[in-house]
Amino acid sequence: MSRRYTSSTQAIPPVGDMPNHVAIIMDGNGRWAKKRFLPRIAGHQRGVETVRAMVKACISRGINYLTLFAFSSENWRRPVDEVSFLLSLFVRMLQSEIGKLDANGVRLKVVGDLSAFEPRLVALIREGEARTANNSALTLTICANYGGRWDILQATNHLALAHPEKAGTYGEADFAPHLAMAYAPEPDLFIRTGGEQRISNFLLWQLAYSEFYFTDGLWPDFDELALDSAIDSYRRRERRFGRTSEQLGMSAQATSGTVKTDDA
Ligand code: IPE
Ligand code: IPE
Ligand code: MG
Repeated sequence: MSRRYTSSTQAIPPVGDMPNHVAIIMDGNGRWAKKRFLPRIAGHQRGVETVRAMVKACISRGINYLTLFAFSSENWRRPVDEVSFLLSLFVRMLQSEIGKLDANGVRLKVVGDLSAFEPRLVALIREGEARTANNSALTLTICANYGGRWDILQATNHLALAHPEKAGTYGEADFAPHLAMAYAPEPDLFIRTGGEQRISNFLLWQLAYSEFYFTDGLWPDFDELALDSAIDSYRRRERRFGRTSEQLGMSAQATSGTVKTDDA
C-alpha cells in the first residue's frame, strides 16, 4: 500500500513544470479575523474554505500530493478555548467532508502524534483514511499534532526497535521508510502564507530540497490565483540538487533524446 520512498539526497527526483507535491503552512487566520474585529476562530472557520478551494485547485492542476499543516505540536500552547475550537472544527470537517473528498477521488491521510487526541477523533480519522484509501486523484495529508522533530524521533525509535542489530550503520534508506509520510515523495514546493519566513517545526527532514515560497497574504485570502503565483515562481527556479547549471543542461539533452548529431 505504501509507496517506496526515494530521498532526494540519494536519487534526484523527476522535475516537472508542475510540482508533484505541494506542502503548505496555512498561517494568518488569526490576523485575518483581527483585521475584521472578529474572534480568531472566525479566521479558522474561513480558512476551511481555502482548504476546500486548494483541494479542487490541486486536482485540476494535476498536483498529486497536497500536505497541509493544520495543528503543530506547539499549538497546544494556545489558549484552551482556541485549541478546543480547532479540535472540534477538525471533528466537524471529518464528519461533513469525507463524502465529498471520496467522491472527488481524494485519498485522505492524517499524520502526527494522534495519541493526544480523544478516541472519537482518532476513530473518525481512521474511518476517513480507510474509506478513501484506494482513491488516486490527490493524496491530501493533514498534519495534526505534527512536529518535524517528533517525526524524526518516532522514526528513529521505530527503526531502532525494528533493526537493533544494524545500530551504528543506519543509512537514509533504512531511516526514511519510518517517517510518517513515507508514502509520499518529498515536497517539491513549500508555501507559507501569513508573512512569516520560518518552518515552525514542519517537515524538517522532507524539506531538504524543496523550493520555498513565502507570501504576505493571509490563509483565508489565499486563492487559485495566489497558488498560480507560487507555481509560477516555482517554475522559474533551477533545481540543481547539488549539481551545476551546466550539468543540468547536459542531462536535459541526454534524457530528452535530442542529442545533436550531424546535420545530414
Ligand atoms: C494558522 O493561523 C492556523 C493554525 C496555526 C491552527 P494562525 O492561527 O496561526 O493565525 P495568526 O498567525 O495568529 O494570524
Ligand atoms: C504554524 O503556524 C503551524 C500551523 C500553521 C498549523 P504558527 O502560527 O503556529 O507558527 P508560529 O508560532 O508563528 O511559528
Ligand atoms: Mg500563526
